[in-house]
Amino acid sequence: MQRTLFDVEELRRGQPSRPSVPFRSQLLKWVGNKQRFAHEIIGYLPDNYGTYFEPFLGSGAVLGSLAPVQAVASDILRPLVDIWITLKTTPQTLKQWYAERWQRFMSGNRQEVYEEIKESYNRSPNPSDLIFLARACYGGVVRFRQADGYMSTPIGVHQPISPDSFSHRVDVWRERTAGTTFLHSDFEPVMEQAKPGDMIYCDPPYVHSQAILYGAQTFSLDRLFTVIARAKARGVYVLLSIDGSKKSGGYECRLPIPSGLFERETSVNCGRSMLRRFQMEGANLAEEVVHDRLLLTW
Ligand SMILES: C[S@@+](CC[C@H](N)C(=O)[O-])C[C@H]1O[C@@H](n2cnc3c(N)ncnc32)[C@H](O)[C@@H]1O
Repeated sequence: MQRTLFDVEELRRGQPSRPSVPFRSQLLKWVGNKQRFAHEIIGYLPDNYGTYFEPFLGSGAVLGSLAPVQAVASDILRPLVDIWITLKTTPQTLKQWYAERWQRFMSGNRQEVYEEIKESYNRSPNPSDLIFLARACYGGVVRFRQADGYMSTPIGVHQPISPDSFSHRVDVWRERTAGTTFLHSDFEPVMEQAKPGDMIYCDPPYVHSQAILYGAQTFSLDRLFTVIARAKARGVYVLLSIDGSKKSGGYECRLPIPSGLFERETSVNCGRSMLRRFQMEGANLAEEVVHDRLLLTW
């Protein structure tokens, strides 16, 4: 089909110029974040597309690397999305939240202050405690108990970044997400908004890693496949990152991927699994290389 000039202009809405240098600065740490591979993942996006959608946002590694002109980004975890909304609406507040907690932490008994902030979060999940916990917890692995969503990660061994450094990241990330609308939502209604020519990048929970939990919510891969099929039928491009082969113990994930849904597949080397690092605490990690599969509907 021949595209008119208008179509091409429409399709350019979500697209930044392709970044030549990888963007590696994280605003927050998150389990399964794609920061180190975002640049590689972006390389698979089509040359032309409309609005960019990221319905499993987490720490938004691909979004931040891409810095799209027009985008919709969402996640099911409310306090996490509230961090993103605050970044957009009142970045100064986000800076203050971090700086206040960092100062208390650095000038008191760090273990006690960390546990107080964690208790405050668990009493009433909120973005101000979560942003500090994500930066200060062990391995950057914010872990929630399945039964009740309790954030259970202990204090990290590292020193969390300074308020100045955090403040700089807020400014950088705010600029890179200026064209993005942040929503608190399950993936389905957000993906249903995508129109022909739009682009959706999906990075759902690692279905085979039972222990990686993002806030006690359930996630159904079958439902995601159904929603992807509908999007594909409308002419939306969908790129899906999914648990690849875990080499540990020779175990390889077999996922029930509907035949004909994806046109191409590739893999991205995601390095070592953060969760395993957390559990093994320094044990030999040689066998823990995880490869993420990338599945493309076009
Ligand atoms: C693998 S993480 C995404 C990591 C992200 N790409 C990054 O770079 O940090 C998966 C995310 O999906 C979210 N999630 C889980 N179930 C969801 C659902 N039903 N709808 C939307 N988001 C969901 C989790 O809260 C989590 O932040």
